[in-house]
Amino acid sequence: MDSILIQGGRPLNGSVETSGAKNAALPLLAAAILTDKPVVYQRVPHLRDITTMITLLANQGADVSIDDLGRVRVDTASSNNPEAPYELVKTMRASALVLGPLLARFGRARVSLPGGCAIGARPMDLHLKGLEAMGAEITVEHGYVDAVVKNRLHGAHIAFDKVTVTGTENLMMAATLADGETVLENAACEPEVVNLAESLRSMGADIDGDGGSSIRIRGVESLAGGELSVIADRIEAATYLAAGLISGGEVTATNIEADLLDTFLARLRDAGAVVETGEDWVRCSAPNGLKAVNIETSPHPGFPTDLQAQFMAMMCIAEGSSVIRETIFENRFMHVQELRRMGAQIVLNGNMAVVEGIKQLSGAPVMATDLRASASLVLAGLAASGETIISRVYHIDRGYERIEEKLGQLGASIQRTTPNTDMFRRADLVTN
Ligand code: UD1
Repeated sequence: MDSILIQGGRPLNGSVETSGAKNAALPLLAAAILTDKPVVYQRVPHLRDITTMITLLANQGADVSIDDLGRVRVDTASSNNPEAPYELVKTMRASALVLGPLLARFGRARVSLPGGCAIGARPMDLHLKGLEAMGAEITVEHGYVDAVVKNRLHGAHIAFDKVTVTGTENLMMAATLADGETVLENAACEPEVVNLAESLRSMGADIDGDGGSSIRIRGVESLAGGELSVIADRIEAATYLAAGLISGGEVTATNIEADLLDTFLARLRDAGAVVETGEDWVRCSAPNGLKAVNIETSPHPGFPTDLQAQFMAMMCIAEGSSVIRETIFENRFMHVQELRRMGAQIVLNGNMAVVEGIKQLSGAPVMATDLRASASLVLAGLAASGETIISRVYHIDRGYERIEEKLGQLGASIQRTTPNTDMFRRADLVTN
Protein backbone atom coordinates (compact mmCIF):
# COMPACT_ATOMS: atom_id res chain seq x y z
CA MET A 1 0.00 0.00 0.00
CA ASP A 2 1.47 3.35 -1.01
CA SER A 3 2.51 6.03 1.48
CA ILE A 4 3.38 9.67 1.09
CA LEU A 5 6.60 10.92 2.59
CA ILE A 6 6.93 14.65 3.35
CA GLN A 7 9.86 16.65 4.71
CA GLY A 8 8.03 19.57 6.27
CA GLY A 9 8.91 23.13 7.09
CA ARG A 10 9.36 24.53 3.58
CA PRO A 11 7.17 27.45 2.51
CA LEU A 12 5.16 26.66 -0.63
CA ASN A 13 5.12 29.33 -3.32
CA GLY A 14 3.84 29.61 -6.87
CA SER A 15 0.84 28.74 -9.00
CA VAL A 16 -1.14 25.56 -9.25
CA GLU A 17 -3.73 24.73 -11.87
CA THR A 18 -7.11 23.61 -10.56
CA SER A 19 -8.45 20.34 -11.97
CA GLY A 20 -12.06 19.61 -12.87
CA ALA A 21 -14.26 18.86 -9.86
CA LYS A 22 -14.70 15.22 -8.92
CA ASN A 23 -18.09 15.95 -7.37
CA ALA A 24 -19.28 17.62 -10.58
CA ALA A 25 -17.79 15.07 -12.98
CA LEU A 26 -19.45 12.10 -11.24
CA PRO A 27 -23.11 13.20 -11.75
CA LEU A 28 -22.28 14.50 -15.23
CA LEU A 29 -20.96 11.06 -16.18
CA ALA A 30 -24.07 9.40 -14.72
CA ALA A 31 -26.19 11.75 -16.85
CA ALA A 32 -24.89 9.98 -19.98
CA ILE A 33 -27.31 7.17 -19.10
CA LEU A 34 -30.22 9.54 -19.80
CA THR A 35 -29.54 9.64 -23.54
CA ASP A 36 -28.74 7.10 -26.24
CA LYS A 37 -26.59 9.72 -27.98
CA PRO A 38 -22.87 10.19 -27.22
CA VAL A 39 -21.81 12.68 -24.56
CA VAL A 40 -18.32 14.21 -24.59
CA TYR A 41 -16.77 15.63 -21.41
CA GLN A 42 -14.11 18.28 -20.98
CA ARG A 43 -11.96 18.67 -17.87
CA VAL A 44 -12.62 15.27 -16.32
CA PRO A 45 -10.04 14.81 -13.55
CA HIS A 46 -7.92 11.67 -13.56
CA LEU A 47 -8.97 10.19 -10.22
CA ARG A 48 -9.85 6.83 -8.74
CA ASP A 49 -13.52 7.77 -8.18
CA ILE A 50 -13.83 8.78 -11.84
CA THR A 51 -12.35 5.46 -12.94
CA THR A 52 -14.92 3.72 -10.74
CA MET A 53 -17.81 5.62 -12.38
CA ILE A 54 -16.44 4.90 -15.87
CA THR A 55 -16.07 1.20 -14.99
CA LEU A 56 -19.66 1.24 -13.73
CA LEU A 57 -20.92 2.69 -17.03
CA ALA A 58 -18.81 0.27 -19.08
CA ASN A 59 -20.12 -2.60 -16.96
CA GLN A 60 -23.64 -1.58 -17.98
CA GLY A 61 -22.63 -1.88 -21.64
CA ALA A 62 -21.64 1.72 -22.40
CA ASP A 63 -18.88 2.49 -24.85
CA VAL A 64 -16.32 4.73 -23.12
CA SER A 65 -13.24 6.20 -24.78
CA ILE A 66 -10.78 9.09 -24.46
CA ASP A 67 -10.08 11.17 -27.56
CA ASP A 68 -6.86 12.87 -28.70
CA LEU A 69 -7.72 16.03 -26.75
CA GLY A 70 -8.08 14.08 -23.50
CA ARG A 71 -11.87 14.36 -23.56
CA VAL A 72 -13.92 11.46 -22.22
CA ARG A 73 -16.66 10.18 -24.57
CA VAL A 74 -19.50 8.06 -23.24
CA ASP A 75 -22.03 6.39 -25.50
CA THR A 76 -24.73 4.43 -23.69
CA ALA A 77 -26.64 3.44 -26.87
CA SER A 78 -25.82 -0.22 -26.31
CA SER A 79 -26.13 -0.24 -22.50
CA ASN A 80 -28.37 -3.12 -21.50
CA ASN A 81 -27.43 -4.00 -17.94
CA PRO A 82 -29.04 -1.49 -15.55
CA GLU A 83 -27.05 -2.62 -12.55
CA ALA A 84 -24.45 -1.19 -10.15
CA PRO A 85 -22.77 -4.15 -8.43
CA TYR A 86 -21.52 -4.23 -4.85
CA GLU A 87 -17.86 -4.55 -5.92
CA LEU A 88 -17.98 -1.05 -7.42
CA VAL A 89 -20.49 0.67 -5.14
CA LYS A 90 -18.62 -0.36 -1.99
CA THR A 91 -15.60 1.65 -3.13
CA MET A 92 -17.60 4.77 -3.94
CA ARG A 93 -20.93 5.83 -2.49
CA ALA A 94 -21.56 8.23 -5.36
CA SER A 95 -22.19 5.15 -7.56
CA ALA A 96 -25.76 5.56 -6.31
CA LEU A 97 -25.98 8.47 -8.78
CA VAL A 98 -26.78 5.97 -11.54
CA LEU A 99 -30.03 4.89 -9.86
CA GLY A 100 -32.22 7.80 -11.02
CA PRO A 101 -30.89 7.86 -14.60
CA LEU A 102 -31.18 4.04 -15.01
CA LEU A 103 -34.77 4.08 -13.79
CA ALA A 104 -35.68 6.99 -16.05
CA ARG A 105 -34.11 5.46 -19.15
CA PHE A 106 -34.74 1.71 -18.69
CA GLY A 107 -37.64 1.61 -16.23
CA ARG A 108 -35.64 -0.59 -13.91
CA ALA A 109 -32.42 -0.52 -11.89
CA ARG A 110 -30.55 -2.73 -9.50
CA VAL A 111 -28.04 -0.84 -7.39
CA SER A 112 -26.10 -2.16 -4.42
CA LEU A 113 -26.62 -0.36 -1.12
CA PRO A 114 -23.45 1.62 -0.40
CA GLY A 115 -22.92 0.27 3.10
CA GLY A 116 -20.72 1.83 5.76
CA CYS A 117 -18.50 4.79 5.25
CA ALA A 118 -15.62 6.20 7.28
CA ILE A 119 -17.35 9.52 7.88
CA GLY A 120 -20.75 8.30 9.05
CA ALA A 121 -23.85 6.27 8.21
CA ARG A 122 -24.73 8.14 4.97
CA PRO A 123 -28.02 6.43 4.15
CA MET A 124 -29.83 6.85 0.79
CA ASP A 125 -33.38 6.85 2.14
CA LEU A 126 -34.06 10.32 0.70
CA HIS A 127 -33.07 9.19 -2.81
CA LEU A 128 -35.41 6.19 -2.52
CA LYS A 129 -38.33 8.15 -1.02
CA GLY A 130 -38.11 10.65 -3.86
CA LEU A 131 -38.06 7.98 -6.56
CA GLU A 132 -41.05 6.26 -4.92
CA ALA A 133 -42.94 9.57 -5.02
CA MET A 134 -42.21 9.57 -8.75
CA GLY A 135 -43.87 6.17 -9.16
CA ALA A 136 -40.98 3.74 -8.68
CA GLU A 137 -41.59 0.47 -6.84
CA ILE A 138 -38.59 -0.18 -4.69
CA THR A 139 -37.53 -3.22 -2.72
CA VAL A 140 -34.37 -3.44 -0.70
CA GLU A 141 -33.21 -7.02 -0.34
CA HIS A 142 -29.92 -8.92 -0.10
CA GLY A 143 -28.01 -5.62 0.02
CA TYR A 144 -29.47 -4.36 -3.26
CA VAL A 145 -32.00 -1.72 -4.18
CA ASP A 146 -34.32 -3.11 -6.87
CA ALA A 147 -36.39 -0.43 -8.52
CA VAL A 148 -38.94 -0.73 -11.30
CA VAL A 149 -41.46 1.61 -12.80
CA LYS A 150 -44.47 0.72 -14.91
CA ASN A 151 -44.42 2.80 -18.11
CA ARG A 152 -42.61 5.97 -17.04
CA LEU A 153 -41.69 7.93 -13.90
CA HIS A 154 -44.12 10.76 -13.20
CA GLY A 155 -43.54 14.24 -11.83
CA ALA A 156 -43.91 14.80 -8.08
CA HIS A 157 -43.57 17.45 -5.41
CA ILE A 158 -40.67 16.32 -3.22
CA ALA A 159 -39.51 18.14 -0.08
CA PHE A 160 -36.23 16.76 1.26
CA ASP A 161 -36.10 16.37 5.07
CA LYS A 162 -32.40 17.17 4.87
CA VAL A 163 -30.31 18.86 2.20
CA THR A 164 -28.64 16.11 0.17
CA VAL A 165 -26.30 16.84 -2.71
CA THR A 166 -26.32 13.53 -4.58
CA GLY A 167 -29.98 13.02 -3.59
CA THR A 168 -30.87 16.29 -5.35
CA GLU A 169 -28.77 15.28 -8.36
CA ASN A 170 -30.23 11.78 -8.57
CA LEU A 171 -33.84 13.02 -8.51
CA MET A 172 -33.14 15.94 -10.83
CA MET A 173 -31.74 13.54 -13.42
CA ALA A 174 -34.64 11.11 -13.00
CA ALA A 175 -37.16 13.96 -13.36
CA THR A 176 -35.76 15.14 -16.72
CA LEU A 177 -37.41 12.16 -18.45
CA ALA A 178 -40.48 11.85 -16.17
CA ASP A 179 -44.03 12.52 -17.26
CA GLY A 180 -44.95 16.00 -15.99
CA GLU A 181 -43.44 18.43 -13.56
CA THR A 182 -41.25 17.69 -10.54
CA VAL A 183 -40.46 20.23 -7.84
CA LEU A 184 -37.58 19.57 -5.46
CA GLU A 185 -37.86 21.60 -2.24
CA ASN A 186 -35.01 22.05 0.24
CA ALA A 187 -32.76 21.08 -2.65
CA ALA A 188 -28.97 21.36 -2.51
CA CYS A 189 -27.58 24.61 -4.00
CA GLU A 190 -23.98 23.45 -4.45
CA PRO A 191 -22.19 24.71 -7.60
CA GLU A 192 -21.87 21.06 -8.69
CA VAL A 193 -25.69 20.80 -8.72
CA VAL A 194 -25.82 23.91 -10.92
CA ASN A 195 -23.15 22.42 -13.23
CA LEU A 196 -25.37 19.35 -13.61
CA ALA A 197 -28.53 21.40 -14.24
CA GLU A 198 -26.75 23.51 -16.88
CA SER A 199 -25.42 20.36 -18.54
CA LEU A 200 -28.84 18.71 -18.59
CA ARG A 201 -30.36 21.90 -20.07
CA SER A 202 -27.76 21.78 -22.84
CA MET A 203 -28.98 18.22 -23.54
CA GLY A 204 -32.56 19.48 -23.85
CA ALA A 205 -33.88 19.21 -20.28
CA ASP A 206 -36.32 21.79 -18.93
CA ILE A 207 -34.99 22.83 -15.52
CA ASP A 208 -35.07 26.06 -13.56
CA GLY A 209 -34.36 27.23 -10.04
CA ASP A 210 -31.02 25.41 -9.67
CA GLY A 211 -28.67 27.27 -7.37
CA GLY A 212 -31.67 27.97 -5.12
CA SER A 213 -33.52 25.67 -2.74
CA SER A 214 -36.45 24.96 -5.06
CA ILE A 215 -35.74 23.29 -8.40
CA ARG A 216 -38.47 22.78 -11.02
CA ILE A 217 -38.03 20.13 -13.71
CA ARG A 218 -40.54 19.57 -16.53
CA GLY A 219 -40.01 16.13 -18.01
CA VAL A 220 -39.25 15.77 -21.73
CA GLU A 221 -39.54 12.74 -24.04
CA SER A 222 -35.82 12.34 -24.65
CA LEU A 223 -32.48 14.07 -24.18
CA ALA A 224 -29.78 14.69 -26.75
CA GLY A 225 -26.06 14.11 -26.31
CA GLY A 226 -23.57 16.94 -26.49
CA GLU A 227 -20.42 18.35 -25.07
CA LEU A 228 -20.27 19.02 -21.33
CA SER A 229 -17.68 20.85 -19.29
CA VAL A 230 -16.83 20.06 -15.67
CA ILE A 231 -16.42 23.07 -13.34
CA ALA A 232 -13.28 23.71 -11.30
CA ASP A 233 -12.70 21.69 -8.14
CA ARG A 234 -13.21 24.22 -5.35
CA ILE A 235 -12.15 21.72 -2.69
CA GLU A 236 -8.89 20.95 -4.47
CA ALA A 237 -8.10 24.65 -5.04
CA ALA A 238 -8.86 25.47 -1.39
CA THR A 239 -6.59 22.64 -0.25
CA TYR A 240 -3.65 24.09 -2.24
CA LEU A 241 -4.36 27.60 -0.94
CA ALA A 242 -4.32 26.12 2.56
CA ALA A 243 -1.02 24.40 1.75
CA GLY A 244 0.50 27.81 0.98
CA LEU A 245 -0.87 29.33 4.16
CA ILE A 246 0.01 26.53 6.56
CA SER A 247 3.59 26.43 5.26
CA GLY A 248 4.05 30.22 5.46
CA GLY A 249 4.17 30.73 1.68
CA GLU A 250 1.95 32.21 -1.01
CA VAL A 251 0.02 30.04 -3.45
CA THR A 252 -2.08 31.08 -6.44
CA ALA A 253 -4.79 28.67 -7.59
CA THR A 254 -5.48 29.20 -11.28
CA ASN A 255 -8.41 28.22 -13.52
CA ILE A 256 -10.98 28.80 -10.81
CA GLU A 257 -13.52 31.57 -10.27
CA ALA A 258 -13.18 33.08 -6.80
CA ASP A 259 -16.94 32.99 -6.09
CA LEU A 260 -16.76 29.20 -5.93
CA LEU A 261 -14.70 29.71 -2.77
CA ASP A 262 -16.63 32.59 -1.17
CA THR A 263 -17.24 31.18 2.33
CA PHE A 264 -13.80 29.59 2.60
CA LEU A 265 -12.07 32.83 1.56
CA ALA A 266 -14.18 34.85 4.02
CA ARG A 267 -13.00 32.62 6.88
CA LEU A 268 -9.39 32.92 5.65
CA ARG A 269 -9.69 36.71 5.72
CA ASP A 270 -11.07 36.43 9.28
CA ALA A 271 -7.97 34.40 10.09
CA GLY A 272 -5.75 37.24 8.90
CA ALA A 273 -4.92 35.94 5.43
CA VAL A 274 -4.40 38.32 2.53
CA VAL A 275 -6.68 37.12 -0.27
CA GLU A 276 -6.38 38.48 -3.80
CA THR A 277 -8.64 37.39 -6.63
CA GLY A 278 -8.71 37.80 -10.42
CA GLU A 279 -11.06 36.65 -13.14
CA ASP A 280 -9.97 33.04 -12.84
CA TRP A 281 -7.44 32.89 -10.04
CA VAL A 282 -7.14 33.24 -6.26
CA ARG A 283 -3.97 34.03 -4.30
CA CYS A 284 -3.52 33.73 -0.52
CA SER A 285 -0.76 34.52 1.92
CA ALA A 286 -0.54 35.30 5.63
CA PRO A 287 2.54 37.46 6.18
CA ASN A 288 1.62 37.95 9.84
CA GLY A 289 0.63 34.34 10.51
CA LEU A 290 -2.87 32.91 11.01
CA LYS A 291 -5.27 33.74 13.85
CA ALA A 292 -7.78 31.26 15.22
CA VAL A 293 -11.34 31.52 13.86
CA ASN A 294 -14.41 29.39 14.49
CA ILE A 295 -16.17 27.51 11.72
CA GLU A 296 -19.36 25.49 11.44
CA THR A 297 -20.01 23.30 8.42
CA SER A 298 -23.35 23.56 6.63
CA PRO A 299 -24.82 23.03 3.16
CA HIS A 300 -23.82 25.51 0.43
CA PRO A 301 -23.38 28.47 0.67
CA GLY A 302 -22.17 27.60 4.18
CA PHE A 303 -18.72 26.33 5.06
CA PRO A 304 -18.19 23.03 3.15
CA THR A 305 -17.76 19.89 5.22
CA ASP A 306 -15.23 18.78 2.60
CA LEU A 307 -12.90 21.56 3.83
CA GLN A 308 -13.37 21.09 7.56
CA ALA A 309 -10.36 18.80 8.04
CA GLN A 310 -8.04 21.04 6.00
CA PHE A 311 -9.19 24.12 7.93
CA MET A 312 -8.57 22.31 11.19
CA ALA A 313 -4.99 21.56 10.12
CA MET A 314 -4.44 25.31 9.63
CA MET A 315 -6.02 26.09 13.00
CA CYS A 316 -3.54 23.70 14.67
CA ILE A 317 -0.80 26.30 14.14
CA ALA A 318 -2.94 29.46 14.32
CA GLU A 319 -2.67 31.91 17.18
CA GLY A 320 -5.40 31.28 19.77
CA SER A 321 -8.12 28.67 20.06
CA SER A 322 -10.83 27.87 17.55
CA VAL A 323 -14.07 25.94 17.72
CA ILE A 324 -14.90 23.72 14.76
CA ARG A 325 -18.42 22.30 14.50
CA GLU A 326 -19.30 19.54 12.06
CA THR A 327 -23.03 19.49 11.33
CA ILE A 328 -23.21 17.41 8.13
CA PHE A 329 -21.57 14.09 9.01
CA GLU A 330 -21.55 12.61 12.51
CA ASN A 331 -18.12 10.99 12.35
CA ARG A 332 -16.01 13.38 10.39
CA PHE A 333 -13.27 13.88 12.94
CA MET A 334 -11.12 10.85 12.13
CA HIS A 335 -8.19 13.16 11.38
CA VAL A 336 -8.16 14.49 14.96
CA GLN A 337 -6.35 11.47 16.43
CA GLU A 338 -3.76 11.60 13.68
CA LEU A 339 -3.20 15.36 14.00
CA ARG A 340 -2.71 14.84 17.73
CA ARG A 341 0.09 12.40 16.90
CA MET A 342 1.79 15.37 15.27
CA GLY A 343 1.48 17.43 18.43
CA ALA A 344 -1.83 19.18 17.71
CA GLN A 345 -3.82 20.28 20.76
CA ILE A 346 -7.41 19.29 19.98
CA VAL A 347 -10.23 18.39 22.36
CA LEU A 348 -13.26 16.61 20.92
CA ASN A 349 -16.72 16.97 22.32
CA GLY A 350 -19.43 15.37 20.18
CA ASN A 351 -19.65 17.25 16.91
CA MET A 352 -17.36 19.99 18.18
CA ALA A 353 -13.57 20.20 18.19
CA VAL A 354 -11.67 22.83 20.14
CA VAL A 355 -8.25 23.48 18.67
CA GLU A 356 -5.59 25.30 20.65
CA GLY A 357 -3.01 26.62 18.22
CA ILE A 358 0.65 25.73 18.82
CA LYS A 359 3.84 27.15 17.29
CA GLN A 360 4.77 24.11 15.20
CA LEU A 361 3.61 20.57 14.52
CA SER A 362 6.13 17.74 14.51
CA GLY A 363 6.34 15.18 11.74
CA ALA A 364 5.14 11.64 12.55
CA PRO A 365 3.89 8.47 10.89
CA VAL A 366 0.11 8.90 10.44
CA MET A 367 -2.69 7.08 8.68
CA ALA A 368 -5.15 8.43 6.12
CA THR A 369 -8.72 7.46 7.03
CA ASP A 370 -10.86 9.17 4.41
CA LEU A 371 -10.36 11.47 1.47
CA ARG A 372 -10.43 14.91 3.09
CA ALA A 373 -8.88 13.72 6.36
CA SER A 374 -5.92 12.60 4.26
CA ALA A 375 -5.62 16.07 2.77
CA SER A 376 -5.45 17.56 6.27
CA LEU A 377 -2.58 15.23 7.14
CA VAL A 378 -0.68 16.28 4.01
CA LEU A 379 -1.16 19.93 5.04
CA ALA A 380 -0.01 19.21 8.58
CA GLY A 381 3.02 17.35 7.21
CA LEU A 382 3.97 20.33 5.03
CA ALA A 383 3.99 22.61 8.08
CA ALA A 384 5.56 20.17 10.54
CA SER A 385 9.19 19.91 11.46
CA GLY A 386 10.89 16.78 10.17
CA GLU A 387 9.42 13.83 8.35
CA THR A 388 5.79 12.77 8.06
CA ILE A 389 4.80 9.46 6.48
CA ILE A 390 1.12 9.17 5.59
CA SER A 391 0.00 5.60 4.97
CA ARG A 392 -3.12 4.41 3.12
CA VAL A 393 -2.92 7.25 0.62
CA TYR A 394 -5.32 5.46 -1.73
CA HIS A 395 -7.90 7.66 -0.01
CA ILE A 396 -6.15 10.76 -1.41
CA ASP A 397 -6.12 9.30 -4.92
CA ARG A 398 -9.93 9.24 -4.84
CA GLY A 399 -10.01 13.03 -5.00
CA TYR A 400 -6.65 14.71 -5.67
CA GLU A 401 -5.12 14.50 -9.13
CA ARG A 402 -1.28 14.26 -9.21
CA ILE A 403 -1.03 15.65 -5.68
CA GLU A 404 2.70 14.99 -5.24
CA GLU A 405 3.47 16.62 -8.60
CA LYS A 406 1.34 19.70 -7.87
CA LEU A 407 2.77 20.19 -4.37
CA GLY A 408 6.28 19.46 -5.67
CA GLN A 409 5.90 22.27 -8.21
CA LEU A 410 5.11 24.60 -5.31
CA GLY A 411 8.33 23.64 -3.55
CA ALA A 412 7.21 20.82 -1.27
CA SER A 413 9.49 17.93 -0.50
CA ILE A 414 7.01 15.14 -1.07
CA GLN A 415 7.28 11.66 -2.48
CA ARG A 416 5.11 8.60 -2.88
CA THR A 417 6.64 5.41 -1.61
CA THR A 418 5.65 1.77 -1.76
CA PRO A 419 6.40 -0.52 1.21
CA ASN A 420 9.25 -2.42 -0.46
CA THR A 421 11.02 0.62 -1.79
CA ASP A 422 10.56 3.04 1.13
CA MET A 423 14.18 2.91 2.21
CA PHE A 424 15.49 3.15 -1.33
CA ARG A 425 13.32 6.10 -2.33
CA ARG A 426 13.96 7.99 0.85
CA ALA A 427 17.59 8.25 -0.26
CA ASP A 428 16.75 10.14 -3.44
CA LEU A 429 13.89 12.26 -2.13
CA VAL A 430 13.06 14.94 -4.67
CA THR A 431 13.15 18.48 -3.37
CA ASN A 432 12.12 20.83 -6.13
C1 UD1 B 1 -21.87 14.94 -1.33
C2 UD1 B 1 -20.44 15.03 -1.77
C3 UD1 B 1 -19.51 14.96 -0.57
C4 UD1 B 1 -19.89 16.01 0.47
C5 UD1 B 1 -21.37 15.92 0.81
C6 UD1 B 1 -21.84 17.07 1.68
C7 UD1 B 1 -20.49 14.09 -3.99
C8 UD1 B 1 -20.12 12.95 -4.88
N1 UD1 B 1 -20.17 13.95 -2.68
O1 UD1 B 1 -22.04 13.66 -0.72
O2 UD1 B 1 -18.18 15.18 -1.02
O3 UD1 B 1 -19.15 15.78 1.65
O4 UD1 B 1 -22.16 15.98 -0.41
O5 UD1 B 1 -21.56 18.29 1.09
O6 UD1 B 1 -21.02 15.08 -4.43
N2 UD1 B 1 -28.51 11.88 4.11
C9 UD1 B 1 -29.57 11.14 4.58
N3 UD1 B 1 -30.31 10.42 3.68
C10 UD1 B 1 -30.03 10.39 2.36
C11 UD1 B 1 -28.96 11.16 1.89
C12 UD1 B 1 -28.20 11.89 2.79
O7 UD1 B 1 -29.84 11.14 5.79
O8 UD1 B 1 -30.74 9.71 1.60
C13 UD1 B 1 -27.70 12.67 5.05
C14 UD1 B 1 -26.23 12.23 5.11
O9 UD1 B 1 -26.04 11.16 6.00
C15 UD1 B 1 -25.56 13.50 5.58
C16 UD1 B 1 -26.39 14.61 4.91
O10 UD1 B 1 -27.62 14.00 4.56
O11 UD1 B 1 -25.67 13.63 6.98
C17 UD1 B 1 -25.78 15.21 3.68
O12 UD1 B 1 -25.34 14.17 2.83
P1 UD1 B 1 -25.35 14.33 1.25
O13 UD1 B 1 -25.43 15.75 0.87
O14 UD1 B 1 -26.34 13.39 0.68
O15 UD1 B 1 -23.90 13.79 0.88
P2 UD1 B 1 -23.53 13.10 -0.47
O16 UD1 B 1 -24.42 13.60 -1.54
O17 UD1 B 1 -23.38 11.64 -0.28
